[in-house]
Amino acid sequence: MSLRIAVLGYGFIADLHTRAARAAGATVISVTGHRPERALDFARRHGIGRAGDDWESAVAASDVDAVVVGTPNSLHHPQALAAIAAGKHVLVDKPMALDTRQAVEMCDAARAAGVTMCVGHMWRYRDEVVALRDRIAAGGLGRVVRTRGYGVHAGWGPSGWFRDYDLSGGGALIDMGIHAIDTARFLLGDPTADRVVASVGTGFDDPAASPSGDPRIDTDAVVLVDWSDGVRSVVESGWWQPVLDGVEAETEVYATGGHARIWPAFTAATPPPADYDHCALDMYAAQMADFVACCATGRTPVASAEVGLEAVRIVEAAYSSAAAYPARPQGPAPSGEGTAS
Ligand SMILES: NC(=O)c1ccc[n+]([C@@H]2O[C@H](COP(=O)([O-])OP(=O)(O)OC[C@H]3O[C@@H](n4cnc5c(N)ncnc54)[C@H](O)[C@@H]3O)[C@@H](O)[C@H]2O)c1
Repeated sequence: MSLRIAVLGYGFIADLHTRAARAAGATVISVTGHRPERALDFARRHGIGRAGDDWESAVAASDVDAVVVGTPNSLHHPQALAAIAAGKHVLVDKPMALDTRQAVEMCDAARAAGVTMCVGHMWRYRDEVVALRDRIAAGGLGRVVRTRGYGVHAGWGPSGWFRDYDLSGGGALIDMGIHAIDTARFLLGDPTADRVVASVGTGFDDPAASPSGDPRIDTDAVVLVDWSDGVRSVVESGWWQPVLDGVEAETEVYATGGHARIWPAFTAATPPPADYDHCALDMYAAQMADFVACCATGRTPVASAEVGLEAVRIVEAAYSSAAAYPARPQGPAPSGEGTAS
C-alpha cells in the first residue's frame, strides 16, 4: 500500500513535498496550516481530501503513516515529537530544530519508537552534488584540504515568520547557511565538526522592512569549520547580498589534486540560463523516494536525523561563537524582499 502522509504547512516547501510525494507514489491524506482557508485552497489545488488548522488531529489520524513537517522552524520540534509519539514516520525540513538539545531529543525519540526520520537536506540528493562527492571519495581530487561554500540570496530576503525570531530561531545562517554547511559535510564524507568559529552580522538588513528590527535575525555570516578529518570549510550565508558569489549550496573544493566546484561559476555577471531551475523538483522527489523506501524497509535515509542534528549543532556553535563579537549594522539592504505564505 502507498505511504499515507499528513503534510503540516501549506507554503513553499509543502508544495514541493506534496508534488514530490506524488512523484514517489505516496498519498497525501491531509494538509494543515495556521490559516485554514489557505490550507483548503492548497488541498483543492493538490487534490487532497482533508484540510484545516488542526495539525494535532491530522498527525494522530489512524489512516496516516507519515508526517511531513513544512512549518516555521520553531514548530519542527513539537510537531515531529507529536508525530513520533503517534507512531508516525517523519520528514522534517531544515533546520530540524532550533538547537542541539531539541534535535537530540527528536533523534532519541525516533530511535526509541522505531520510526524513520529524514531531514530536508535535499542537496544530498542532487546529481551534481553526489557526482562531486563520489569523485572526492574515489580520490579523484587527491587530498581535500579546504572547501568554500555559499548559502546566500542576492538582492532578496524573506519576510513574515522568517524574520520573527520566536518562529525562526535566527536569520540567513539557520535558513540558508545550514544548506551550505551540510553540503560541505556531505562532500567530505560526513566528518564531524571539531571547532566552529563565526562572525555573524546584520550587514545587509533593511531596518525599514524588519518588523522587529531584531539583531538576532542575521543577514550575513562567515563560518569556519574545522572538521574531524583535518579539512577546513568556510561557509558564507546571506540574505540581500548585493552580489551572488555562488548559488545556494554551491561549494568549491580545494585539494592536492586540484580545484572543483559543484556547479559552473554562476555570478551576477555570468548568470545561469533563463530557464535554469536551481531548486528543481527532482531532488525533492529523490529525497521523498528515499524517505518512502526507508519507511518500508527500516533503512536509514541519506539525509538522516543524525545528519540534521550535526547541521543544527554547527549552526548553534556558529551563533554561540559570534555572540562574543556582535557585528555592527551596515545600513539598508540593496534591494528586494520576498514574501512568506
Ligand atoms: N529544503 C528546502 O529547500 C526549503 C526551502 C524553503 C523552506 N524550507 C523550510 O521549510 C519550512 C517552511 O518554510 P516555507 O518556505 O515553506 O514557509 P512558508 O511561509 O511558505 O510556509 C509556512 C507554513 O507554516 C504554517 N504555519 C504554521 N504556523 C505558522 C505561523 N505562526 N506563522 C507562519 N506560518 C505558520 C503556515 O500555515 C504555512 O503553511 C521552514 O522550516 C524552512 O526552513 C526548506
